[in-house]
Amino acid sequence: MKTTGGNEGAKQNAGEAAASLAEDGMTVGLGTGSTAAHAIRALEQRVGEGLDIRGIPTSYQSADLAREAGISLVTLDDATPDLAIDGADQVAEFDLIKGGGGAHTREKLVVSAAARFVVVADPSKEAAVLDRPVPLEILSTARTPVSAAVRNLGGEPALRAAERKDGPIVTDNGNLILDCDFGRIEEPADLADALSGIPGVIEHGLFVGLADEIYVGTDEGVEERSR
Ligand code: A5P
Repeated sequence: MKTTGGNEGAKQNAGEAAASLAEDGMTVGLGTGSTAAHAIRALEQRVGEGLDIRGIPTSYQSADLAREAGISLVTLDDATPDLAIDGADQVAEFDLIKGGGGAHTREKLVVSAAARFVVVADPSKEAAVLDRPVPLEILSTARTPVSAAVRNLGGEPALRAAERKDGPIVTDNGNLILDCDFGRIEEPADLADALSGIPGVIEHGLFVGLADEIYVGTDEGVEERSR
């Protein structure tokens, strides 16, 4: 599984705490990445003990984990998530950069629909100001004009290369990823609006105004922040 590094024990503590929020009858949005995977495994244990939930996956990865966990899967056409649990590549207050695993388009769809979105992270993800490259999922035919538009906004785009395939990665939705370095992002909402307006951009990895709670795992437990 791809991992963005960090402290596995802390991620597990965050994932388990978020999974404890699930209740009988809930539909749960299942995030992607190594921290969300801990939450899915914790849900597996609870489902084994009789918890009755359905899951909405955000990627092939989370769908496969959920099937292994015995969680019934549905889609956004069937149900609205009561709770969504997902990781992040960087967290500043309640703003996030996501998409390190290339799953941010479906992730944003699911967490935006959820009544409650809980972010699970370890301390390495926290920052005062967002400054990691922002992933853009783009149409394969849009690479050159989107790159030009990103440069006009002060960013430097880089096509994400595959690791065990020649050429670029292709997302679960059949598209490409541009990782766009804007340096320090002082006004994430403004940048998010600008990126959403670029033709050919399917979704960007800035999650502004979506997170309700941040669970940061530590070696000892979990620090919880809510709006
Ligand atoms: C998937 O595309 C991402 O948005 C992940 O949620 C993010 O990369 C966090 O992954 P880790 O929990 O593995 O750090």
